[in-house]
Amino acid sequence: MIVNAPIGVFDSGVGGLTVYRALRGLLPNEDFVYLGDTARLPYGTKSKQAVEHYTLAAARLLRGQGVKYMVVACNTASAQALGALDAAMPDLPHCGVIAAGAEAAVRATRNGRIAVLATEGTVRSGAYEAAILALRPDADVRMLPANLLVALAEEGWCDGAEATAIVGRYLAMLVPGYDTLVLGCTHFPLLLPVLRDLCPPDIHIVDSATVTARVVADTLKARGLMASSGAGRDTFWVTDSPERFERLGARFLGRDIRGRVAVADISLLPLENAGDAVNSAA
Ligand code: DGL
Repeated sequence: MIVNAPIGVFDSGVGGLTVYRALRGLLPNEDFVYLGDTARLPYGTKSKQAVEHYTLAAARLLRGQGVKYMVVACNTASAQALGALDAAMPDLPHCGVIAAGAEAAVRATRNGRIAVLATEGTVRSGAYEAAILALRPDADVRMLPANLLVALAEEGWCDGAEATAIVGRYLAMLVPGYDTLVLGCTHFPLLLPVLRDLCPPDIHIVDSATVTARVVADTLKARGLMASSGAGRDTFWVTDSPERFERLGARFLGRDIRGRVAVADISLLPLENAGDAVNSAA
């Protein structure tokens, strides 16, 4: 692997910019290629097979760009497609966001009762329970499906009456006693102020974006792959509608990325062997 090669960051759309932002903050010298599969968003309501297929296509594109490491920033893709990715592309070093989020949750909890807010697909996969229970077998994990929060964050309704009502309705599923809440979706950090207001004051909120960035930085350093000089460059790709990504991206990043987003068509990439890998990983 080449130290100066870029890091690939993949998400179903714009939400992974929360992970990219955390990575950029920790790794100022790195080049990043961000790929948001906006043509197929949302992943959260799709089947495992579909999410695997899209993730492998994205990984092929990023590998074609010579990335030295791929961060699967999307929780849903991390929950459903890492097995297929391991099987199909063992030569592409990669990580998802769930292991880091689970580890941070296990570190944070005092009573072992951990709730996870996530998309339906992530909840269905059982990936967070598995990752948390592997680290703490006596943990009590409660999954809270909260699809609508993705739309809220995309719409920019991150505070005010609507956000308070909808976040409150989801949090009503959180019975008392859970001392840790994992934000198991890329979009949810945007709703952090409302979540903090509505959660019991002593609950620990874990944002998997921040902890994943730390894990990636540590991994690159340990493998001697961390770039140490030069101002890192960013390339943003989407599979549909760059204008919308630019508009929403400004909200996720807190800076203007107008005119800096290109379109990639990952549906045209050959997926030979991918089917075998998916089947053997299922
Ligand atoms: N990126 C997805 C996740 O983190 C949320 C958006 C979607 O459903 O595609 O689960």
